[in-house]
Amino acid sequence: MTGRADLSSVLITVNEREREFAVPTDTTLLGFLRDYCELRGTKSGCEIGYCGACTVLLDGQPVHACCLLAAQCHGRTVETIEGVAGGDASIQRDFADADAAQCGVCIPGFIMSGIFVRRSAPDPGLGREEFAREVLLGNICRCGNYSRIVQAVLGPEE
Ligand code: FES
Ligand code: FES
Repeated sequence: MTGRADLSSVLITVNEREREFAVPTDTTLLGFLRDYCELRGTKSGCEIGYCGACTVLLDGQPVHACCLLAAQCHGRTVETIEGVAGGDASIQRDFADADAAQCGVCIPGFIMSGIFVRRSAPDPGLGREEFAREVLLGNICRCGNYSRIVQAVLGPEE
């Protein structure tokens, strides 16, 4: 049983809403989102930083939520798949149009990485697709749907 001494109060702004809970000190950001905020769109896969199913944006940067303690994110800003709206929402249509999802487990994580790609200026010397592929290295699709996922992240040709 967890005693009070093992709890810490953590406040994180999740999808523009402040969420504060007293959580066991070993609670990961993934656990904070799924178990306390009840935001289960962020998936739990390997829980060792390998698969990227748990990818969210922390202060705008893609991170594996299973590898961070919630306490490390105190006072910071997190975006999850549930908060995708406005201009970012078009990426969800592009995933559907590209038929990018098979089982779909990896897709929320890929979309969050994809939003980072779309918001970023590519590193100098890297083409847009090369930059996207580099960012997406943090995500694994067990169904092997990579070419369609990359196509979805890049969006329709202009
Ligand atoms: S569940 Fe976090 S990287 Fe796999
Ligand atoms: S669509 Fe099944 S793991 Fe990616």
